[in-house]
Amino acid sequence: MKILVTGGAGYIASHTNVELLKEDYEVVVLDNLSNSVEESIHRAEALSGKSITFYQADLLDYETLDAVFKAEKFDAVIHFAGLKAVGESCQIPLRYFDNNITGTINLLKAMEEHSVKKLVFSSSATVYGHAKEMPIKEDAPLSAMNPYGRTKLIIEDMLRDIYASDNSWDIALLRYFNPIGAHESGEIGEDPNGIPNNLVPYIAKVAVGALDNIHVFGNDYDTPDGTGIRDYIHVVDLAIGHVKAIEKLNSNPGLVTYNLGTGVGYSVLEIIKNYEAACQKALPYVIDPRRPGDAAVCYSDASKAERELGWVAKRGIKEMCEDSWRWQSKNPNGYNK
Ligand code: NAD
Ligand code: UFG
Repeated sequence: MKILVTGGAGYIASHTNVELLKEDYEVVVLDNLSNSVEESIHRAEALSGKSITFYQADLLDYETLDAVFKAEKFDAVIHFAGLKAVGESCQIPLRYFDNNITGTINLLKAMEEHSVKKLVFSSSATVYGHAKEMPIKEDAPLSAMNPYGRTKLIIEDMLRDIYASDNSWDIALLRYFNPIGAHESGEIGEDPNGIPNNLVPYIAKVAVGALDNIHVFGNDYDTPDGTGIRDYIHVVDLAIGHVKAIEKLNSNPGLVTYNLGTGVGYSVLEIIKNYEAACQKALPYVIDPRRPGDAAVCYSDASKAERELGWVAKRGIKEMCEDSWRWQSKNPNGYNK
């Protein structure tokens, strides 16, 4: 089976490529490298001993996209490509709407034109907005809290409309909770540009000596230690979830939606403690005010994915921190050595 992986040089996709190749899928990557480097593709090839076809192209360029669909006969698409920084999306919303929504519309047009109607979409727990009930189930109310989240919600809505109009599509909406960690080899991992926005990449930079202090955004939440609680999921477990979703689409389920999380929440201070154990050093932190827009607590009910995909996250917080640290310490400057 030949799979198009959009955004295939990125963090989650590079781990998914390894899992797809392991299961003998053919992988074709399309990425404009706006937030990644080609080296991640070569490392995924080296880890799996198999090759990946790579097109450096932008989803906004419909002609090239159409040519790629013509040249390759895809059986399915996993659509990771998108801009993902929440803060940046508030500053340049139009760029986010154009890149994420127009890019997806182009992809869907090409899929329709070439009769490729199996799609896995990278959605996010952000579509639940500030959820009232924990753990969050797939049928919880949806809302957008920022332009980035709005792009995810709009794309989900578009996909529901497309499926309603033509039920020959098979679509899996995967709502990720907080992906962290890296491949156990330390060869691929998360390599954010500039100062990381997310907690664990930030901690990793402090651990490796590139940044001074961790900034804990608020210790006055209504949680046991006052810091925010999230459902962190090992990126390799998440990657395997995509292979399971492709298998599911082969049984023609129509449009399906799954939370991919562990169902367990950890606080910021618990993550720092676990990371200290992994890197075997004390990590300095300061308490800052709350970050606007942050929820106190967010964790999944992931039982639907277990029931329907036969998928469950197996790697715990210790492995998440150890694998993140292995990647960061082996590659202190990310892919650009
Ligand atoms: P990433 O930035 O590492 O990967 C995204 C990739 O898409 C990058 O390689 C980038 O170059 C590429 N890309 C962006 N716009 C493109 C375009 N117009 N044409 C071609 N390629 C383009 O991000 P990631 O963390 O691997 O996230 C992958 C997907 O999962 C994204 O859609 C993101 O919104 C979603 N997601 C991520 C998280 C998270 O915390 N990492 C959580 C929930 C959902
Ligand atoms: N945090 C800090 N210091 C930091 C960064 C974060 O204390 O330097 C705290 C946050 O306040 C929050 C927790 O660490 O309590 C996690 O924050 P992240 O920025 O790592 O992750 P978020 O839960 O805010 O959001 C991430 C992605 C979103 C996505 C969401 C759910 O950035 O795009 O996970 O998948 F929608």
